[in-house]
Amino acid sequence: MSTIGWIGLGNMGGPMTANLVGAGHEVKGFDLSAQALAAAAERGVNAAASAAEAVAGAEIVFTMLPRGEHALAAYRGEDGIFANAAPGTLLVDCSTIDVASAQTLHEEAAAAGFSFLDAPVSGGTAGAEAGTLTFMVGGADADVERARPFIEPMARTIVHTGGPTTGQATKICNNLILAINLIATAEGTVLADRLGLDHEMFLSVARASSGDNWALRTWYPYPGVVESSPANRDFAPTFTTDLLRKDLSLALAAGQDTGTPLAFGERVQELLDQVADAGFGGKDCSIVRRVVDGSLET
Ligand SMILES: NC(=O)c1ccc[n+]([C@@H]2O[C@H](COP(=O)([O-])OP(=O)(O)OC[C@H]3O[C@@H](n4cnc5c(N)ncnc54)[C@H](O)[C@@H]3O)[C@@H](O)[C@H]2O)c1
Repeated sequence: MSTIGWIGLGNMGGPMTANLVGAGHEVKGFDLSAQALAAAAERGVNAAASAAEAVAGAEIVFTMLPRGEHALAAYRGEDGIFANAAPGTLLVDCSTIDVASAQTLHEEAAAAGFSFLDAPVSGGTAGAEAGTLTFMVGGADADVERARPFIEPMARTIVHTGGPTTGQATKICNNLILAINLIATAEGTVLADRLGLDHEMFLSVARASSGDNWALRTWYPYPGVVESSPANRDFAPTFTTDLLRKDLSLALAAGQDTGTPLAFGERVQELLDQVADAGFGGKDCSIVRRVVDGSLET
């Protein structure tokens, strides 16, 4: 049993810490939201009054925060992790953040005498609850091996993606492809509908042909075709439009930084912005089908 510090107990951090508690660890957690802190305490986390208190005496510290600016704020400053964790503590940021902020955190951690890993996840809140997330971990070999036993209760798959920032890079490149496949699937299925095709027939052909992709198989955007599709449940979220917009914005920023033209990524972002402008940013991103078929009402 080890003492783990954890900052950020939201939709993902809450269930992830519950799995660490379930594995027998002591988790000292902090969140700016009193509600999130209380919910985590109900699931066995020791609620700390500050980030400083949460990380004091911890063997390893995890962060699970919304964006780069939140992660930078949590690590820096008088009450931050760098100023309050014991020297040599292993620090693991599981948030999905921009590559530039991840690089800054690696550099500032090293300068302050800490080991640091960028370790974003995929698998959503369901994977966080079930302890079946995929972790994409960027950093030094020895640090990844040190973190592995702590990550295991939260993960089905742990991939060491390479050196610093490769975890974040892997995550945003994957989600760029997902976003483009989502729109490709929406356009193909709306056209199939208008040409009078039977959706089950169309899916059976496309998934066995060159149109096959994960969004098609998992989120087929018409009801009654694929059990896991949010279209069956009025697009109740499995992955919100707003989260996909955020991940795509990180990919587009990386495209700018590297001089990479991401024409399709930019166009997909415009279509997702239309969903958000219509007030549906909290709905599942597969609702973008309704931009394609013109049925999205504001
Ligand atoms: N929700 C998902 O399906 C999902 C899936 C994969 C990855 N992610 C990524 O995981 C990260 C967290 O997502 P989430 O859904 O848990 O978000 P969330 O908004 O539910 O939780 C984030 C928590 O961080 C807290 N916080 C912010 N700044 C803080 C600070 N300085 N100190 C302490 N607490 C602070 C907030 O109060 C909030 O409770 C994001 O980067 C997201 O992109 C989310």
